[in-house]
Amino acid sequence: MRSDPLNFLATDLDTLKQQGLYRQLRILESEQRATSTFDGRQVVNLSSNNYLGLTTHPRLREASLEATRKLGVGSGSVRTIAGTMEIHMELERRLADFKKTEAVVVFQSGFAANAGTVAAVLTKDDVVVSDELNHASIIDGCRLSRAAIKVFPHKDVEAARRVLMGLPAGQRKLLITDGVFSMDGDLGMVPQLCGLAEEFGCIMMVDDAHASGVFGRNGRGTIDHFGAHGRVDIQVGTLSKAIGALGGYVAGSKTLVEYLYHRARPFLFSTSHPPSVAAACMAALDVLEQEPQIIERLWENTRFFKSGLERLGFNTGLSQSPITPVIVGEGALAMKLSDRLFAEGVFAQGIAFPTVPRDKARVRTIVTATHTRGELEFALDTFAKVGRELGIIP
Ligand SMILES: Cc1ncc(COP(=O)(O)O)c(C=O)c1O
Repeated sequence: MRSDPLNFLATDLDTLKQQGLYRQLRILESEQRATSTFDGRQVVNLSSNNYLGLTTHPRLREASLEATRKLGVGSGSVRTIAGTMEIHMELERRLADFKKTEAVVVFQSGFAANAGTVAAVLTKDDVVVSDELNHASIIDGCRLSRAAIKVFPHKDVEAARRVLMGLPAGQRKLLITDGVFSMDGDLGMVPQLCGLAEEFGCIMMVDDAHASGVFGRNGRGTIDHFGAHGRVDIQVGTLSKAIGALGGYVAGSKTLVEYLYHRARPFLFSTSHPPSVAAACMAALDVLEQEPQIIERLWENTRFFKSGLERLGFNTGLSQSPITPVIVGEGALAMKLSDRLFAEGVFAQGIAFPTVPRDKARVRTIVTATHTRGELEFALDTFAKVGRELGIIP
């Protein structure tokens, strides 16, 4: 009998289990809300990227249903063949207006936007200079491009400068950072890196996935937050987090967008969004413009919850955003903390190596605009109880 050539996968999974790093998928049995039902248990949800509660906003829901009624459930093709609908073009125009750039191209996800763009813009003769904590989609894009990859320590602008000084003047260089780092919640060194890009003639790129809808005027992102308009050549945003639906986009010049229409492989070789998604995203942009108080509520909740965790004595790292990590060190301890919180009614995902360094495992919390004060107080009380029980705080 033929032995299973995939046996090694089971061995790898067993190793994860022995290390306490095996992750059971939690199943969401209700809508994605501040309090949701996962695995049959109602919990305060501190794990979603639904920063503004837009996944269930009536205006998005209605827009999406209306588009489905009018235009059907799918686009039927990739963008370059028969899958570019007027509603896709309208969303790109709306996003360009929102981001204050000449043009925007929408991808199926933020991951596809990052990976597809980096891989399209660079070749094997080029070099990318990248923060060590940049998102996996950037790393994959760099690998696909076959460009040389130079990684600088997290937010270390001087180290990035040293890397750039060692590169030939004529070589094409891409300098890239996350706007908000997804595991630590701190901000990228956007203005400082823009300065370096200008000095060394680099292409400057910022992945603003976690800043879209959160930072800047009406949620325009970190480029707006830092007043860096015109200094970033390639801005990536996501429609999957604060915007509440699905997708990613690249904002920049008309030439960049036209080039990506011709060269970005996820754009060329993967079907475009259903019309309902494009319609929901446009309704989300209306909400950002017309109901900015939602963003203010997100920040009030962020301040309240973050200061509560800090008062209890948890290590929350250097977060500057609604993402607040509770760093505990060992992966197994992070998973245990997450499990005990869940049993007590709070869902905060445990995150360990390889997503974060081995000694910096954590549970990651994300508050949303829709959490009530009562829900956040309950979550803090639960963190206090479980944190003491596990000896994480005194
Ligand atoms: C920093 C960062 N960039 C890009 C992405 C990918 O975005 P999407 O979920 O839209 O694919 C994520 C999502 O995890 C992220 O955290």
